[in-house]
Amino acid sequence: MSQPNVSESPFRTIDLIRKKRDGGALSSAEIGYLVNGGTDGSIPDYQMAAWLMAVVLRGMTREETAALTHSMLHSGEVLDFSFLPARKVDKHSTGGVGDKTSLILAPLVAAGGLFVPMISGRGLGHTGGTLDKLESIPGFRVGLAVPEFHRVLKACGCSMIGQTEKVAPADRKLYALRDVTGTVESPYLICASIMSKKLAEGTDALVLDVKTGSGAFMKKEENAVFLAELMVETGERMGKQMAALITDMNQPLGRMVGNALEVQECIEVLHGGGPADLRDLCLELAAWMFYLGGASKTVAQGKQLSEEIIASGKAFDRFRQMVELQGGDISTIDDPARLPTADHRVEVRSRHAGYVTAIACEQVGTACVILGGGRERKEDSIDPAVAIAVHKKIGDQVSAGEALCTIHCHSDAQAVRARILLEESYQIAAAPPTHKTAMVHRVIYKGEH
Ligand code: URA
Repeated sequence: MSQPNVSESPFRTIDLIRKKRDGGALSSAEIGYLVNGGTDGSIPDYQMAAWLMAVVLRGMTREETAALTHSMLHSGEVLDFSFLPARKVDKHSTGGVGDKTSLILAPLVAAGGLFVPMISGRGLGHTGGTLDKLESIPGFRVGLAVPEFHRVLKACGCSMIGQTEKVAPADRKLYALRDVTGTVESPYLICASIMSKKLAEGTDALVLDVKTGSGAFMKKEENAVFLAELMVETGERMGKQMAALITDMNQPLGRMVGNALEVQECIEVLHGGGPADLRDLCLELAAWMFYLGGASKTVAQGKQLSEEIIASGKAFDRFRQMVELQGGDISTIDDPARLPTADHRVEVRSRHAGYVTAIACEQVGTACVILGGGRERKEDSIDPAVAIAVHKKIGDQVSAGEALCTIHCHSDAQAVRARILLEESYQIAAAPPTHKTAMVHRVIYKGEH
């Protein structure tokens, strides 16, 4: 949808800011005008910021959210994978601690006959990023140009890359503005930001993993559900098959938090092992990807298919093939001990005997960032070797002095701040927690499954 530029436009920016400030709903043409003007610079940042703040305070209708997503999506290139001979599916997570499912899902679902063109992100705040994990594999290239992305997809059914300059440039501009004007926290703006990038991948179906709990951006379940429903509806309006799983992020997913060791844990799952929570969540998400992509008649069948593919070794083979095609050193995949490692260990021990009743999961993510496993500033580089190996999770019994987790680092001095954070993040009580929280809290999907 191309819009006239500011000088030829029938709209005045200030009128649109006032309209939103007073609780009105903007038309698609008005939203298109703002997005285009904000992206090409013809509307100044201070006016865009005023409009964004009005959206934060007044909200948007579903129609406005869809129009905003549409304009942001079409501000750049929309990839076309119609040449691929099967349906294309993807998964998006809102971000968590130890959340490494993408590395397992892409090859698993590709091995089941669907295509997975995955454009991923880097760590954000206390959460880890898929690209940072992949780059802990020596040589792995996440910056493929579109023709090479196509080649890898055709050859092995999946490819994982970073956002190109050409995809959703409006989001890049608006996100940078939101970041410094206190306007990130709006479900409408988050929905348009995420969905504009994901829809640009040109997939037929998208499964959303919307995290909730102490390690998620949406700490309250009701906020996670609201965002999930908004994203599902927005995707459906654009003709995509959509489902969202609201999943638990009250403790790290799996046992490892830190890039290279997370890759190692993914390889364990692809070989049929790995921690039960990580494996179970991957099976659930893959089942939905197969179902929405039309590779299984029901979600239950999709789950069975996923289990069979892992057991057959085909998912691991696809992962190995993708790593090779994207320049990664496959000797590290065949022998994960060759991935980057940090030789020093610092144990974080429990002061009391009892049961783990809660983990301040965001603090665990922050501890990893402080060690160098994430970025405190945009320009920071990542140390792929540092990590936190989590030994005790919610419900586990501990004795006094027993290790709750182990910090993998390069010296005692490096671990001081992370150790304090980790010690403080565990709650130990005399009695075990009274109920076990399910991994999938609920599913948002309109049809039968
Ligand atoms: N992630 C995004 O890509 N956009 C947002 O607005 C928030 C999280």
